[in-house]
Amino acid sequence: MHRVSVVLKSNGHREIPSYSSFTSFSKNKHEAPVASHSYWEKPRYLVLGICILFSVFALCFFILPASMEFTVGNSEPGHQGLLRKNLRGLQTEETTNALSEEIGEESKNKEWRLKPDHFTLFNTSSLLTTPFNPLNLTNGIRIYVYDLPAKFNEDWLADERCSNHLFAAEVAIHKVLMTSPIRTLDPCEADFFFIPVYVSCKFTPKTGFPWLGQARKFMEAAVNHVSTRMEFWNRSGGRDHIFVASHDYGACFHTLETEAIAHGIPEFMRKSLILQTFGVQDFHPCQAAEHIQIPPYVSPSVAASYIKDPPERQKRNIFAFFRGKMEINPKNVSGLVYSRGVRTVLYKKFSHNRRFLLKRHRTDNYQLEMLRSTFCLCPVGWAPWSPRIVEAVVHGCVPVIIADNISLPYSHAIDWTGISLSVREHDVPKLDKILLNVAATNLSTIQHNLWKEENRRALLFTDPLVKGDATWHVFDRLSTKLERSFIKH
Ligand SMILES: *[C@@H]1O[C@H](CO)[C@@H](O)[C@H](O)[C@H]1NC(C)=O
Ligand SMILES: *[C@@H]1O[C@H](CO)[C@@H](O)[C@H](O)[C@H]1NC(C)=O
Ligand SMILES: *[C@@H]1O[C@H](CO)[C@@H](O)[C@H](O)[C@H]1NC(C)=O
Ligand SMILES: *[C@@H]1O[C@H](CO)[C@@H](O)[C@H](O)[C@H]1NC(C)=O
Ligand SMILES: *[C@@H]1O[C@H](CO)[C@@H](O)[C@H](O)[C@H]1NC(C)=O
Ligand SMILES: *[C@@H]1O[C@H](CO)[C@@H](O)[C@H](O)[C@H]1NC(C)=O
Repeated sequence: MHRVSVVLKSNGHREIPSYSSFTSFSKNKHEAPVASHSYWEKPRYLVLGICILFSVFALCFFILPASMEFTVGNSEPGHQGLLRKNLRGLQTEETTNALSEEIGEESKNKEWRLKPDHFTLFNTSSLLTTPFNPLNLTNGIRIYVYDLPAKFNEDWLADERCSNHLFAAEVAIHKVLMTSPIRTLDPCEADFFFIPVYVSCKFTPKTGFPWLGQARKFMEAAVNHVSTRMEFWNRSGGRDHIFVASHDYGACFHTLETEAIAHGIPEFMRKSLILQTFGVQDFHPCQAAEHIQIPPYVSPSVAASYIKDPPERQKRNIFAFFRGKMEINPKNVSGLVYSRGVRTVLYKKFSHNRRFLLKRHRTDNYQLEMLRSTFCLCPVGWAPWSPRIVEAVVHGCVPVIIADNISLPYSHAIDWTGISLSVREHDVPKLDKILLNVAATNLSTIQHNLWKEENRRALLFTDPLVKGDATWHVFDRLSTKLERSFIKH
């Protein structure tokens, strides 16, 4: 078990070397040669001699082996990272994340607390063994992953929620990228640069929800870090740099649409490429930067543990299913009403309808209930998108998307009209009739389409990466944006 990463990360607080020193950097570099000036006094030549000897010694015994370790290292930094106690999460926060809030009881759910699989973020051995382009991507793109100090990413993994919650695409993509053959260790041959910041892993102590209040500053610090130490940000103004912003309103970093729009995308991110879950069909200030719409994170191993039979053999005895926040008398928060009132109508109109299972909290049976349901409702919350869309697809439950003008992830590859229903918000009072009509006509066609393996695969961030999974689609989309690559034009 060789883990390059260990060496890459064991000096997580080391500064990123400039490219000129790239080829020789190693964890011992700062210990190695010379030059603490106070020693350059009287026995100057003696000290000089000793220093030269020491340098040669250090070169032979530390630097060379260490830089070889750089490619075939063998310690275990990932685990140190996991053990590192993270006390920052204990500060108080005023705002919580709206999407997580609407998921309500999910933080009590086992799935939410699930232990990550043996977390080998830094296993890069496949870099050494896999041929250059086994993913069959056109254009053969290469991505350089910045080695940021651990406070930007690895430290947060001490909290296991960090790699499992609905915004965890930021962790999943980084993790897979580290071992992907698309990654290059040489920034000079990179088409794109990935900035791995785990911006949503700070959880409010009270509710356990991700808190985005720090996001802008945190991202800015990361950009300062890379732009002052290497030349690649400045040379393109960040055009070939990639961020993940998998939050309610993407890189606007706020949960309320009015606030999100008022703040906008931070200036320093506007030229870059943003991987985001947020998407609407019309112009929106929170998608005004170049972006790729990605699915929200749903743990593939949890999904796999529940799903056994194809839909025709599954017993779906719940007609329409929804669990989550439904305000009976929604407050008007700075001009916005939660879910644009959709969930209130749902609750008032259908909570006593025996075909509908509508509950305001999640339980441990959540996945099993989805497996037993024919239609899974995915109404707009604060933001139009919802992890329910992915959960429904992976559980073989037809997603009923109630969010006007929403744009869906990977619509170039997934035929959403064949596997889901879209119901206009103002048609919600007629939802029972709409669903009954589908059940009487083409439900089985939709279920048949829904169960095609490529749909589930495209929506899950599988580890290791497989062709056609959610991360592969990110790479695939990136390969259509090569005009942003500095070296390829
Ligand atoms: C690292 O990756 C290689 C190839 O992908 C795999 O065979 C090996 O088991 C992995 N090591 C660990 C510790 O996961
Ligand atoms: C990749 O493409 C080559 C030729 O285009 C084909 O022979 C090969 O089977 C493909 N591999 C995969 C994994 O799709
Ligand atoms: C990039 O530009 C910024 C702002 O002009 C500057 O502070 C920084 O030193 C530059 N980085 C490099 C590597 O030259
Ligand atoms: C919410 O309040 C604002 C004033 O703050 C008002 O203009 C708007 O019409 C209200 N919206 C609804 C749906 O009641
Ligand atoms: C959806 O788009 C239409 C046409 O652009 C617009 O009139 C409507 O207000 C939009 N609805 C929402 C909820 O944004
Ligand atoms: C189901 O039928 C409706 C109305 O006839 C049609 O618009 C829709 O495309 C059909 N869906 C599928 C997946 O066949």
